Amino acid sequence: RKKTAILISGRGSNMGALISAAMSPDYPAEITLVLSNRPDAKGLERAAELGIATAVVDHKDHAGDREAFEKSVDAVLKDHKIDLVALAGFMRILTPYLVNAWAGRMINIHPALLPSFKGLATHERALQEGVKLHGATVHYVSAEMDDGPIIMQGAVPVLDSDTPDTLAARVLNVEHQIYPKALSMVASGKAKVSGARVTGSGNSNETETLI
Ligand code: GAR
Repeated sequence: RKKTAILISGRGSNMGALISAAMSPDYPAEITLVLSNRPDAKGLERAAELGIATAVVDHKDHAGDREAFEKSVDAVLKDHKIDLVALAGFMRILTPYLVNAWAGRMINIHPALLPSFKGLATHERALQEGVKLHGATVHYVSAEMDDGPIIMQGAVPVLDSDTPDTLAARVLNVEHQIYPKALSMVASGKAKVSGARVTGSGNSNETETLI
């Protein structure tokens, strides 16, 4: 089983979904570390309750020096002999330093159907643009923010009655379904990257069943 670290900044509901999936002994990844850049992240308490090692690398201790912050994160990951990194609501922009160090071994979940709505406030922007389908994307992390080969997507309908909060809740539910599946594909070696594309993730069927 691939030793996997989850990086969080907040409540950690995606972290919880990954931990639950990895409790099954035949799941190809085990969650051996949860690391946060915020000491007060709610997800840290949850992880500790579940008996998972936790670490804090506070970005505020690194006085605006992103690379020094990332060197500290990298050192903790190495200490724990981590094979794979899953970003789950980790709200720091990464520099090429950490991205290159973990190329092909670091994945992220983004609350939109990439390449639409990179960045923040994705649900507000989806409503403003009037899209009828919205969703979430799990992708490999590359040097460009919210870019990198797409591993899996899940789509949801946008309803006339939606507010950013109701839409966020519908998307979050899909996040909790696709992230464990995508991590499993990566950890088992089933997801294969060829150029910008990832094959082997069974993506279209997953999306259909999630609508
Ligand atoms: C999730 O919706 C995740 O997709 C998003 O933050 C939320 C974290 O929730 N990530 C980003 O916006 C990354 N830029 P969680 O802490 O409950 O998993």
